[in-house]
Amino acid sequence: MIAKNQKQQERCPPTPIPVKAGHTRFEWLKLVATLAIPVAIGVFTIMNNFQQMNLSKSQFENQLRIANDNRQNDIRVAEEARVNDLRIAQKDREKDLQMADNQQKQAVLIEYQNFLAELLLKEGIRLNGSNSEAARFVARFKTLTGFSQLNPERKAFLFKSLYEVKLITNNDEFESAIVSLASADLTNIILGLPRDSDVLPGFKGPCFTNLHLSGADLTNASFRGVRFSNITFANAVLDNADFGYTEDAGKFIDFQGSSLQSANFFNANYKVAYYIQFQGAKFNNARLMNFICVRCGFTSTIMQEANMTNARFTSCQFILTKMLNCIMVDIFIKNSTFDETDLTGCDMRGAIFEYTTFSEKTQLIGADMSLIELRHCDFSNTNLSGCNMTRAILNGTSFLNSNLSGCVGLNEWQLRQTKSLAGSTLPNGTLVRAK
Ligand SMILES: *[C@@H]1O[C@H](CO)[C@@H](O)[C@H](O)[C@H]1NC(C)=O
Ligand SMILES: *[C@@H]1O[C@H](CO)[C@@H](O)[C@H](O)[C@H]1NC(C)=O
Ligand SMILES: *[C@@H]1O[C@H](CO)[C@@H](O)[C@H](O)[C@H]1NC(C)=O
Ligand SMILES: *[C@@H]1O[C@H](CO)[C@@H](O)[C@H](O)[C@H]1NC(C)=O
Ligand SMILES: *[C@@H]1O[C@H](CO)[C@@H](O)[C@H](O)[C@H]1NC(C)=O
Ligand SMILES: *[C@@H]1O[C@H](CO)[C@@H](O)[C@H](O)[C@H]1NC(C)=O
Ligand SMILES: *[C@@H]1O[C@H](CO)[C@@H](O)[C@H](O)[C@H]1NC(C)=O
Ligand SMILES: *[C@@H]1O[C@H](CO)[C@@H](O)[C@H](O)[C@H]1NC(C)=O
Ligand SMILES: *[C@@H]1O[C@H](CO)[C@@H](O)[C@H](O)[C@H]1NC(C)=O
Ligand SMILES: *[C@@H]1O[C@H](CO)[C@@H](O)[C@H](O)[C@H]1NC(C)=O
Repeated sequence: MIAKNQKQQERCPPTPIPVKAGHTRFEWLKLVATLAIPVAIGVFTIMNNFQQMNLSKSQFENQLRIANDNRQNDIRVAEEARVNDLRIAQKDREKDLQMADNQQKQAVLIEYQNFLAELLLKEGIRLNGSNSEAARFVARFKTLTGFSQLNPERKAFLFKSLYEVKLITNNDEFESAIVSLASADLTNIILGLPRDSDVLPGFKGPCFTNLHLSGADLTNASFRGVRFSNITFANAVLDNADFGYTEDAGKFIDFQGSSLQSANFFNANYKVAYYIQFQGAKFNNARLMNFICVRCGFTSTIMQEANMTNARFTSCQFILTKMLNCIMVDIFIKNSTFDETDLTGCDMRGAIFEYTTFSEKTQLIGADMSLIELRHCDFSNTNLSGCNMTRAILNGTSFLNSNLSGCVGLNEWQLRQTKSLAGSTLPNGTLVRAK
């Protein structure tokens, strides 16, 4: 009966029964009670159904969402699988390409070796047979092509072979190598220890004798720990090359006109050769920390912002050198010449200069010379305006006709230790009477 009623209630809302006048109070109560139960049940049922409807609706939505999620998931999984397959295929392809490239480079090397062997057998070990000029030309041409096609490891192998047969060493007859490596692509070649690697104390690297590398492109090359006996790098490109811990063991080292931007000479030690020439080289941003160089010519070189911290230069020439903003902290320079040198803005804190002359328009404008020690140096005719000489020791040093105007940190005691101030402009602008 409830179920039936329920069904009816579902279809239509209960119509209000008109209340007729004249019924007794009891009849009213009875009627209300009779009606109230199904109405209450009906209302409850509607509410319940509503809730159920809501529930089933959210269930449906939930299922839809799950289905959708599953679909999305399937798509994602499929996509991931596809991408993964692609990646694997790509990797395989790269591996294949790498292997092919490797084989091709190996083939280039073998082909070159065969060519050279044949040529040497035909034209003699010095390529000085009947056809020597043609032989040298062909050898150079083939060598340049070979180097340009090889990776750094094979370049090093080929280089050492050519060095062993003395084709790339100085030949007194030509004042060059038999096979000139000018413009050869020797970039990234490692002929010593790997770049920037640690060097154990007492390490003795291989020694290259009479190597002739004029004009070669040795960008990023490493000579770390190598020893040189007679070597020429004239006009070579040596940007970013590593000469750390190199030593000289022969008569001359020639870096004239080379490009040594950002090159590294950390702990390099050149003091045996009587001729060490860097004339015209470009050293911008070079790392020359702890570099020891004796009898070295830096005339007309450009070494802006080079870091020479703790370097030691003895009997060196810095004529017309551009050393703007160099870091010369704790540097030790002895018996050397600075002439028309631009040392503007250099950081010379704690440096020691001994028996060194700074002459003819050398500029030290704004240089930080605090804690510097000048022992019997000569700063005649130099421009030191705006420098910092806080706690500088100027013992026996001459400042003849020099401009010290605007220098900070100079006191009477320091000035009294100088050898001469005649004709100079003092920090406060006072001009000292010339002698
Ligand atoms: C080629 O050079 C070698 C080694 O310097 C020498 O012994 C030889 O006589 C030279 N040959 C010719 C044809 O000049
Ligand atoms: C040299 O090495 C640097 C990284 O140190 C690299 O960016 C540059 O391409 C290299 N140059 C050559 C010519 O290989
Ligand atoms: C070094 O080069 C000079 C000049 O070319 C030469 O006289 C000398 O013999 C060479 N030293 C060695 C060890 O070959
Ligand atoms: C110069 O080299 C020194 C010693 O290696 C280092 O402490 C300093 O930071 C360097 N200065 C610059 C500006 O690179
Ligand atoms: C000082 O350097 C010059 C070359 O600039 C050299 O001839 C001379 O022997 C050196 N003197 C000393 C004491 O080292
Ligand atoms: C020295 O440097 C200062 C500051 O740059 C400049 O004003 C002056 O003309 C320069 N020359 C001389 C000879 O002092
Ligand atoms: C010295 O340098 C100052 C600038 O710092 C300049 O005004 C002055 O003229 C210079 N003195 C001489 C003698 O050149
Ligand atoms: C001069 O050098 C001293 C010591 O290095 C430093 O404390 C001071 O700040 C410097 N003065 C100027 C003006 O740079
Ligand atoms: C400066 O040199 C004189 C002799 O030339 C010497 O007596 C004195 O002790 C030296 N002073 C310093 C601080 O080196
Ligand atoms: C300039 O400085 C010098 C040395 O410190 C001093 O003897 C002189 O009296 C000063 N001149 C002026 C005008 O302050």
